[in-house]
Amino acid sequence: MLFTILYGKEFTMAKRILTGIRPTGKLHLGHREGALNMWVEFQNTGEYECFFLVADKQALTTHIDRPQIIEEAVREVVLDFLAVGLNPTKPNVNFVLQSGVPELAELTDYFTMLVQFSEMEKNPTIKAEKKQLGSAITAGFMIYPISQAADILLFTLDPAEAGNYLLVPVGEDQVPHLEGTNRIARAFNRRYGKVFLECTAKVGKVGRLPGTDGSKKMSKSAGNVIQLSDTPEVVKKAVMKMFTDPKKIRMGDIGHPKKCPVFIYHEIFGNNLEDQKLRSKDCRLGKLGCADCKKSLVVTLNTLLDPIRDRREKAEQEPIGDYLISGTNRAREIAQNTMDAVRKAMHLDYPSIFKKGG
Ligand code: TRP
Repeated sequence: MLFTILYGKEFTMAKRILTGIRPTGKLHLGHREGALNMWVEFQNTGEYECFFLVADKQALTTHIDRPQIIEEAVREVVLDFLAVGLNPTKPNVNFVLQSGVPELAELTDYFTMLVQFSEMEKNPTIKAEKKQLGSAITAGFMIYPISQAADILLFTLDPAEAGNYLLVPVGEDQVPHLEGTNRIARAFNRRYGKVFLECTAKVGKVGRLPGTDGSKKMSKSAGNVIQLSDTPEVVKKAVMKMFTDPKKIRMGDIGHPKKCPVFIYHEIFGNNLEDQKLRSKDCRLGKLGCADCKKSLVVTLNTLLDPIRDRREKAEQEPIGDYLISGTNRAREIAQNTMDAVRKAMHLDYPSIFKKGG
């Protein structure tokens, strides 16, 4: 509460952002391109009250036997948040620790009854993650999209008020979960009256960054990442090992830049269009060798990461715990309001039994 007052977060805006990330390790370039960049932009418009959720409970779906990893990663993720420019000392910005908001568990519980189990099995993101997990598929994993719906809808704004808006900026793989969230909002509103505002999904320019191995998606479990906190040396090693066009073996060979992950990175991370055109042309003519092309990517990435690394180092001295406490407190104020409305709508508020003298 003290921090709530300190940072002056006692206000309500007509637009909110709720989004989150699982803390299972340090964040990487894929997180930045797919989500973080966009979050920083929205934060800086000052138009939204923002809630950036560190989804430690959701991380248990894959790390139930390794909770220590999650504990460490909570700190790393907050450092990465600060490093890319999220700023919880702004009055409109909150970092929220998911396990610190018990109302989420209650809301999840009610929501589970509004979803057919078969819908979980059809969710394409669940399907893809299930494959990676192998055999240990828990009930908690199968229904995490429902708890994610609670994460989002807990931050609902009055659906009757014009101009209210709940925005969820995410990477492409989260979109099925947001569609599911809105199905739940509708299922609830239909039965019990209009309590929930449907959310609006927003996917960034780069919905999905390819991995350094050329596979579709950069992800820690695939071991194909460049972390935001990697040293210049580590970045160099990762880039020099990157896959390139498999048909271009020697310097003089003709290349196919559109099929080359190194070129795709140049396109995403470079900011000089003329350079890009020339690189593409020289590659196609066999004038540009892959090693040289990679070396210039190392420079581009390290130039991009330098200020992020600096900011991260400074962030080490900041009161990470206090940031989480103040943001989580603000989330709980909203949570209690939402849950009052939910219980009332569901006939679970029993005033005559629980209210003093009732
Ligand atoms: N599923 C997201 C991830 O894998 C994390 C997450 C949890 C989330 N709750 C959310 C994202 C709510 C957006 C909105 O990183």
